[in-house]
Amino acid sequence: MKFFIDTANLAQIKEAHELGILDGVTTNPSLMAKEGIKGTDAVQNHYKTICELVDGGDVSAEVISTDFDGIVEEGKKLAAIHPNIVVKVPMIKDGVKALRWFTENGIRTNCTLVFSAGQAILAAKAGATYVSPFIGRIDDSSWDGIELIAQISQIYSIQGFKTEILAASIRNALHIVKCAEAGADVCTCPLDSILGLLKHPLTDIGLAKFLEDAKKFA
Ligand code: E4P
Repeated sequence: MKFFIDTANLAQIKEAHELGILDGVTTNPSLMAKEGIKGTDAVQNHYKTICELVDGGDVSAEVISTDFDGIVEEGKKLAAIHPNIVVKVPMIKDGVKALRWFTENGIRTNCTLVFSAGQAILAAKAGATYVSPFIGRIDDSSWDGIELIAQISQIYSIQGFKTEILAASIRNALHIVKCAEAGADVCTCPLDSILGLLKHPLTDIGLAKFLEDAKKFA
């Protein structure tokens, strides 16, 4: 399973990259707004900086248009920023049409705001590179986000769809483990959830004991 970081914050991207486990980055308009980035030039420069930081990893940049022509125009401009940009397109009717257009024109895509297996089938049929089911938001609505990952994984495997399952809206380290079990190809996570994988009290207790005992022979 690949690890993407789900943020537009450069310090957090750098920290995850330095850990040596980072395969890419996902952003969305809310994450970009959180960083206080304003205006077309600033947005484009920020995406370029992220692409250079992760050095070869895919970087999802989301369109904000909702009509076919707007999505295509915006997506073309985003894709031109850097070869690693993946155009993030919402799961709406014009979004599906645009996904097909991008597929036919060699532009890689991430179909976002996916909450059902039916939507994931449509994204795959349109040739999306990635499909992003939103695990945490599904759990927040008292449904089972991990179950959706497992269902999409089974469908894609039976049908031979090539679209990669990019589990998004991750809230904690357990989500990451469960996504790996359920067959996600990629997990995009906040830095805290990635670092949460490191934690185990027995590791801390064991290390403290080893360091204490090491004093006896140092
Ligand atoms: C990433 O691609 C998604 O936009 C993101 O994971 C959504 O996460 P949230 O539900 O925590 O906003």
